[in-house]
Amino acid sequence: MSVFSLAYTLHVMAALVWVGGMFFAWMILRPAAVTALEGPARLRLWVNVFQRFFVWVWVAVLVLPISGVGLLHLGFSGFESAPRYVQVMMGLYVVMTALFIRIQALKLPELRTTVAAEDWTAGAAVLGQIRRLVGVNLVVGLAVVALASARPGF
Ligand code: HEM
Repeated sequence: MSVFSLAYTLHVMAALVWVGGMFFAWMILRPAAVTALEGPARLRLWVNVFQRFFVWVWVAVLVLPISGVGLLHLGFSGFESAPRYVQVMMGLYVVMTALFIRIQALKLPELRTTVAAEDWTAGAAVLGQIRRLVGVNLVVGLAVVALASARPGF
């Protein structure tokens, strides 16, 4: 396996884990948890899910730029000569990472505190905020994957 194909494989797998994980959480687990669980159990489930999933998001947050910059140098000989869609990909990576850090550093501790205090009303409000942020990140992530695959010539 060449260095280029190794970097490409890691890059695509990192995108798959991050965006696929958000898709599963939003489209499948969220409605299933609403149907199957009462408020307190649901909030406890989400604290647990986020703690586990975010470890893998951190891996993706690191692997994407490292492999991506590698691909840039191996495939396009640097930033300046990279096509526009790759530059847009980098910009949207910054947006996705900023939203993720907002959830990880601010919202998840808030959710943990409300669950520990058994304040289910406040917990539900924080979970709603996280849901919206993840929803935005999912749309941005899907857009990046579509952009990367379509490789538009703008
Ligand atoms: C600093 C951040 C990033 C850099 C420098 C970067 C760079 C690159 C480069 C150079 C390629 C190869 C393009 C080509 O061969 O035409 C690529 C492909 C790709 N990138 Fe990124 N990328 C970044 C972030 C992301 C993010 C956040 C995602 C999705 C969440 C993503 C998803 C993809 C996918 C799916 C491909 C493969 C496209 C295909 O071959 O069909 N990238 N990226």
